[in-house]
Amino acid sequence: MSDAKTPWSGRFERTPGDFQQRFGASLPVDKRLYAEDIAGSIAHARMLAAQGILADADVRAIVAGLEEIRDEIEAGTFVFDVSDEDVHMAIEAELTRRIGDAGKRLHTARSRNDQVATDTRLYVKRRTRELVALANRLRATLVDLAETHLGAIMPGYTHLQKAQPVLFSHHLLAYFWMLTRDVRRLAAAFEAADSSPLGAAALAGTAFPIDRRAAAEELGFSDVVPNSIDEVSDRDFVLDATYACALGMVHLSRLCEELVLWSTEEFGFVTLDDAWATGSSIMPQKKNPDFAELVRGKTGRVVGDLVSLLVILKGLPLAYNKDMQEDKEPLFDALDTYADSLVAVDGMLATMRVNAERMASAAVGGFTAATDLADLLAAKGVPFREAHEIVGRLVRECERSGRRLQDLSAEEFASACADLGSDACEAVDIASVVERRTSPGGTAPDRVRDQIAQASAALAADERWLAEHPPA
Ligand code: ARG
Repeated sequence: MSDAKTPWSGRFERTPGDFQQRFGASLPVDKRLYAEDIAGSIAHARMLAAQGILADADVRAIVAGLEEIRDEIEAGTFVFDVSDEDVHMAIEAELTRRIGDAGKRLHTARSRNDQVATDTRLYVKRRTRELVALANRLRATLVDLAETHLGAIMPGYTHLQKAQPVLFSHHLLAYFWMLTRDVRRLAAAFEAADSSPLGAAALAGTAFPIDRRAAAEELGFSDVVPNSIDEVSDRDFVLDATYACALGMVHLSRLCEELVLWSTEEFGFVTLDDAWATGSSIMPQKKNPDFAELVRGKTGRVVGDLVSLLVILKGLPLAYNKDMQEDKEPLFDALDTYADSLVAVDGMLATMRVNAERMASAAVGGFTAATDLADLLAAKGVPFREAHEIVGRLVRECERSGRRLQDLSAEEFASACADLGSDACEAVDIASVVERRTSPGGTAPDRVRDQIAQASAALAADERWLAEHPPA
């Protein structure tokens, strides 16, 4: 038998054993909800006083006691009693130790079921907002890099085979737009969490004359959830937030994979700052992109968090089930890991050296101008399929003789195809290949400049969203 105290000791002859206590407890994980739990309890208590359900003096003692506990937790002087099952019971028990009977009245017209849903929604709102701010910082770094290195040409790839030259800025901005959608998903998760479940009580509502809107407003919720059974059962907002993190991680992972490749000797497109690389304990020459690799690796965990949550909820009958206590570890892990990963990727990008010459010479290799030669022929009336054939033969010929398309003279082009001449030499010039791609969203410098302007506007809009949703 443990010394665990339970609020249901009236009904039970025995207290839980040590194992059962440890197995059933969520305090080690959910204690980080303390600020939201205390805010929720204060709003609930004030509402009970305003409705004449609790005496003003009791509520004053409750609020003062809760604020004192919060200050101590924040100062690091509060010691959680590990025999308490969860953060809700730990704080209420301590409050009651401090203020006596008034503490025991706090749970009037409330259940831990609406309490935990309220806390978790508040927490998801706070953390998704923070993630938007971190993602915006990385987006700003991407725009900065795109502006600074406008003009740097790199090979664009498909199948990781050189395809066509693109501006390095254009390639980076592709990640900017992924992150833009990630931010919108985080904002959507914030909005999914932005309704108050407080007042649902265990599942059916309460007979006390509560004022749900008043409590919701005090907590900064925009609305109240309309169905008390849904309120205590719904964890969609947890999934929305975790999905936003998981897909955000997948995007960072792809970028990190490129950093890993680009920082190899074979590519040499970027050099990571020493602060964002590690050495080897045996090989003196090594400089490893550990942080990029870790972001890539941690992505697997966050995807696992999302899958865990989906499976936890699948098949749960309404309303609350204890299974739902298992939502916190994956949620917290996803939020923490994504937050750290955003910081790491921002740090790597902001400090890396960009080796534009290496990129440019790589962009010339691999016959990346071949499409432009085929296009040139097609523009002259040669059916594109035939043009493709002709240029294909030319590439094969060059490959055999160890030359690049740029090494061919006008005469050599002409002897390969009567329709080609000095215009072919111009067509395969790498800078001209890039400049020619002026279609909207294309890689021509003017289009990429347009894109930088669009990106800056999108970033400004998302910064405004943050300003319009200040921390509660
Ligand atoms: N620790 C619990 C959780 O996170 C709080 C809700 C408990 N409710 C209950 N009816 N046992 O889900």
